Amino acid sequence: DIASLKDVFSPYFSMGVASTASELAPAPSKELILKHYNMLTPGNELKPDSVLDYDATIAYLEENPDDQTNPQVNIRAAKSLLDFARDNNLSVRGHTLVWHNQTPDWFFRENYSTDSSTPWVSKEVMLKRMENYIKNLMELLEKTYPTVEFYSWDVVNEAVDPNTSTGMRNPGSNNTTSGNSLWMQTVGSDYIEKAFEYARKYTPKGCKLFYNDYNEYETTKSNYIYQILKDLKDKNLVDGMGMQSHWTMDYPSIDMFETAARKYASLGLELQLTELDISQPSNKDSDLQAQANRYKLLMNKVIDLKEEGINITAVVLWGITDRTSWLGGYPLLFDEDYKAKPAYYSIIEGM
Ligand code: XIL
Repeated sequence: DIASLKDVFSPYFSMGVASTASELAPAPSKELILKHYNMLTPGNELKPDSVLDYDATIAYLEENPDDQTNPQVNIRAAKSLLDFARDNNLSVRGHTLVWHNQTPDWFFRENYSTDSSTPWVSKEVMLKRMENYIKNLMELLEKTYPTVEFYSWDVVNEAVDPNTSTGMRNPGSNNTTSGNSLWMQTVGSDYIEKAFEYARKYTPKGCKLFYNDYNEYETTKSNYIYQILKDLKDKNLVDGMGMQSHWTMDYPSIDMFETAARKYASLGLELQLTELDISQPSNKDSDLQAQANRYKLLMNKVIDLKEEGINITAVVLWGITDRTSWLGGYPLLFDEDYKAKPAYYSIIEGM
């Protein structure tokens, strides 16, 4: 019987895992989560394309032709995950409210049209849609799952593009081409502050508001992120920085990670590693051992920073086993047969 990750790391931080509804379904997945993790992130099921209810939104508009600012939501896709969290006392990381990806283009168009020649709504209408989306979702969650603790919400995900002149994603004619953002198209860069303002208003008391991003360890990108966080923090609108931590075998360096973590923490923010995985295309013994060494170096650094007083509160793996990772290959702590890999053994060693 192997050691429980959540027990091993409990002196330092929570251990979390992302799961989709389908990854959760097999009994061995449930067993692994219950044994090793005390925090759960729905992998897709609380993203706007899962939550926005097109039919109900159109029905609402037909009954209220003067109000195109009240998008309707449902949480059916997340049901098995949230039932599981409720029944087993797992705290949930809500992921994610405002993102350019996995958000339908019709959300941004006049009358929620699915016709690509229909114009975007005005900034004013789009901000009301954003507010009511957040309000309706929070009310539904509170009503359906009054006992589930949402530890945090990723309020805005992946807003920064270090390759543009402003550091913000480019506006565009859809939400997918080259990472363009329809939030930038319809609202402009103050969509970020508005999202946090509404999230603060409607999330349950005590729920921590996070900004979440990838390549968060890179110098240019982290400078842009830092500035966004600083502006939000000055207004008390943000509580945490989500460092996604999608790593490869040679990038980033531990030093880059450390520098970025210290930079974000210097704002007085809580930090979480929200989507940790380390890509590994090979499952040769020596390659899995090299991956294990890298996981160990990272976890050692996280613990050192925590002991020094940097407020790291969770490490969340982005997936349960290599069987279902979004990356393919062998990036996680457990293999296709739900067995602990060298990476698992390396991180508990000496703890
Ligand atoms: C990924 C999911 O894991 C996939 O199932 C989905 O097809 C695409 O999105 N950054 C994020 C996550 O914030 O939401 C992404 O999740 C991975 C990258």
